[in-house]
Amino acid sequence: MTQAHGSEQQHTGGGKTVRFKVKRQDEAGSAPYWQEFEVPYEAGMNVISLLMGVQKNPKTAGGEPTTPVNWECACLEEVCGSCTMVINGKVRQSCSAIVDHLEQPIVLEPMGKFPVIRDLQVSRQPMFEALKRVKAWIPIDGTYDLGPGPRQSPKDQHVTYTLSTCMTCGCCVEACPNYNEKTGFIGAAAISQARLFNMHPTGERNADERLEALLGPGGIAACGNAQNCVQVCPKEIPLTESIAKMGRETIKYELRKWFGS
Ligand code: SF4
Ligand code: SF4
Ligand code: FES
Repeated sequence: MTQAHGSEQQHTGGGKTVRFKVKRQDEAGSAPYWQEFEVPYEAGMNVISLLMGVQKNPKTAGGEPTTPVNWECACLEEVCGSCTMVINGKVRQSCSAIVDHLEQPIVLEPMGKFPVIRDLQVSRQPMFEALKRVKAWIPIDGTYDLGPGPRQSPKDQHVTYTLSTCMTCGCCVEACPNYNEKTGFIGAAAISQARLFNMHPTGERNADERLEALLGPGGIAACGNAQNCVQVCPKEIPLTESIAKMGRETIKYELRKWFGS
């Protein structure tokens, strides 16, 4: 990441300002276009505050009236993943992207692997569909008190806690060269979630169904081991370790099927 210091910020009318460009799109399927903006600088501001600046005063840097930029956010503390976008060429969360640390003009684009809804807002539905394919949940009967759940060793808890921090943000699939419509690849996040739920003492009852899904079209075989995913994951989830582990589990599962055990 390139650092921009105070001296590199623009000045208009005596006040410090921040310049940024947004790749906009009015609706799903329409042609994208670029607009440049300039908003007053405030110490510690993040990329979301820039977009809020345009919301308050929807004008381009040239003073032309325009519509406010559309984006998505919720938690504002890098937990929900909804504010993910491409900032200066790098996929990341906009709530934790601090303006002082970014080279200007800051360039904002929607993630390219998902359908654009409008401007910087995309639909991450394909990721949720991938989670459905690998049954990334634990089926329980919630109609009566099941009592205390089964125990899990502290060693396994240590691994599963990290895996459970996935916020389905999309960074890993955005960076993956093999995640596209042609391959139909489910992506590193879904593979890692299959590992998480197969490690759970109750979730392991459906382990074979998850392994079967990973052996299906667009499953684990579509991973080319480029390792981009692990480098961009904001939660530092050991994605390549998960992929290797689930690769071994699918081989063992196939052997078990062949030998009928
Ligand atoms: S290892 Fe490479 S191909 Fe596999 S999921 Fe990660 S980025 Fe994609
Ligand atoms: S594995 Fe990491 S990069 Fe991928 S969706 Fe989860 S949190 Fe985001
Ligand atoms: S708003 Fe939730 S991660 Fe940024």
